[in-house]
Amino acid sequence: MSEPERSIFLSGPMGVGKSSVARALAERLGRPLVDLDARIEAEAGQPIPAIFEREGETGFRRREADTAIATLAEPPAVVALGGGTVTQTPVRRRLLAEGILISLEAPLAVLLERVGGGEGRPLLEGAPEARLSALLAERAPAYAECHARVDAQGNPEGIAARVAAVATEARVPVPLGLQSYVVEIGLGYRHRLAERLAAFGRPVLVADPNTVRYRDELAPPRAVQVTLDEGEANKTVDAVARIWDEALDAGVDRRAIVVAVGGGVVGDLAGFAAASLLRGVAFGQVPTTLLAMVDSSVGGKTGFNRRAGKNLVGAFHQPAFVLCDPEVLGTLERAERIAGLAEVVKSAWLEGEGAVAALERDAEALLAGESEATIGAIRRSVATKARIVAEDAREKGVRMHLNLGHTVGHGLEAAAGYGALRHGEAVALGMVAAMRVGLAAGTAERPDAERMERLLARLGLPIDLDPRLDDAVWPFVQSDKKRQGDRVRFVVPGAPGRVAVQPMTVASVRAAVEGS
Ligand SMILES: NC(=O)c1ccc[n+]([C@@H]2O[C@H](COP(=O)([O-])OP(=O)(O)OC[C@H]3O[C@@H](n4cnc5c(N)ncnc54)[C@H](O)[C@@H]3O)[C@@H](O)[C@H]2O)c1
Repeated sequence: MSEPERSIFLSGPMGVGKSSVARALAERLGRPLVDLDARIEAEAGQPIPAIFEREGETGFRRREADTAIATLAEPPAVVALGGGTVTQTPVRRRLLAEGILISLEAPLAVLLERVGGGEGRPLLEGAPEARLSALLAERAPAYAECHARVDAQGNPEGIAARVAAVATEARVPVPLGLQSYVVEIGLGYRHRLAERLAAFGRPVLVADPNTVRYRDELAPPRAVQVTLDEGEANKTVDAVARIWDEALDAGVDRRAIVVAVGGGVVGDLAGFAAASLLRGVAFGQVPTTLLAMVDSSVGGKTGFNRRAGKNLVGAFHQPAFVLCDPEVLGTLERAERIAGLAEVVKSAWLEGEGAVAALERDAEALLAGESEATIGAIRRSVATKARIVAEDAREKGVRMHLNLGHTVGHGLEAAAGYGALRHGEAVALGMVAAMRVGLAAGTAERPDAERMERLLARLGLPIDLDPRLDDAVWPFVQSDKKRQGDRVRFVVPGAPGRVAVQPMTVASVRAAVEGS
């Protein structure tokens, strides 16, 4: 199902050509054109310098925010923003969530030539070059948060054509200031790797035996190629050391980039190697399992397992890019693909009614692995994760919600012996358990629980929780690393879009799960 059309917002510094590109783009797409500054002037009945004089920059920014947000209620348009509009975080995040935000870019010298002496531009008064350069530096974290950055050199029609092309793609921005990146989702997109690598030094491409075919197909001649042993049992510090050593033996420097071409195991290991190699080099992701596309490749958690448990040593290290190409799912075992759908259900439940209804609508197509439904599901799941990660990159609050189904799921997975139950299968069963806790806590109603189980079952995921609940499960729940003292921070669901984190003893979780 294609997404409803959204307005396209053009951002970027003064002089980059937002108005002329917007005019060309509006013409090309047959959409209404909104020039934000012109609209503000018309509504205020005075030119911008006069607004600055009478109301100060604060007054102008208030008008700008209101006018920009108001366009979201209008039919899809092309909107030329002011240079500073996106510096207001709430405005920027709304435009990112409900529109398509494009940053136009050009070198300082080009911008200076276009703004001339800075007449009519209050922020440049006096010393245009120094002021523009300072403004660019100050606004860089805001401009970095966008669906795409487009080179604004050349004629407006050519630039508009480039904007129109990226605006139709499935791109999900993960807005984290200067650490922002875009998850690009589409058939054949793995072949964009060469283009993405151009900005970095020597690439170190990491795969496992099942994904070497993609790594070899994509590796440029100068790449260092590392092949790790497959699977969760090999998610160890020794595997990380293999990446360090092979990269260092090849003589990489700090401009190097480590790229994971694989599932969540390869991604977590390569990400940690990147975070620590030479005290941190860049990292890129070409996820090859559905789980890695919708979950592990986004958000910057990296690490490996220790004797005491999974993922107990790691670091936050955000990727520079994520290329999700559903074509590679064609070689993935069906059961692995289905396991990834558990995280899709989880995200939809966190997002709300619309996302759950979309999954219910697409369930059969997803089970069959149809591309359009798969791209839509990846896009929606990543958007949910991106929204949550942007709010709480280091898991101090709302990011805990992403653990829905993972507390009991982790216990089931560990008790079965890692590898016996796939992570996604354990999460599906963990969500069934979490719903029982929700019923006992009164946050969920019986129809919510039945709806979730029905959806999981339609997607081929296990829901037969009772036969799997034995005494061995609970000590692993107790050792969950998200515990606080003797309590685990349990994510309790209700209807779609309603979840809460409650500190609970394992005994009370167990009573709720076993008691119903
Ligand atoms: N970092 C995070 O935020 C995060 C989030 C969720 C899960 N994880 C981690 O992710 C891991 C699970 O990820 P996973 O399910 O992708 O496991 P995985 O990497 O072990 O991949 C599953 C299996 O599929 C094979 N495979 C991968 N891509 C393939 C392809 N295209 N064709 C054929 N075979 C292919 C792999 O070799 C492996 O055997 C766990 O270690 C979990 O802790 C991390």
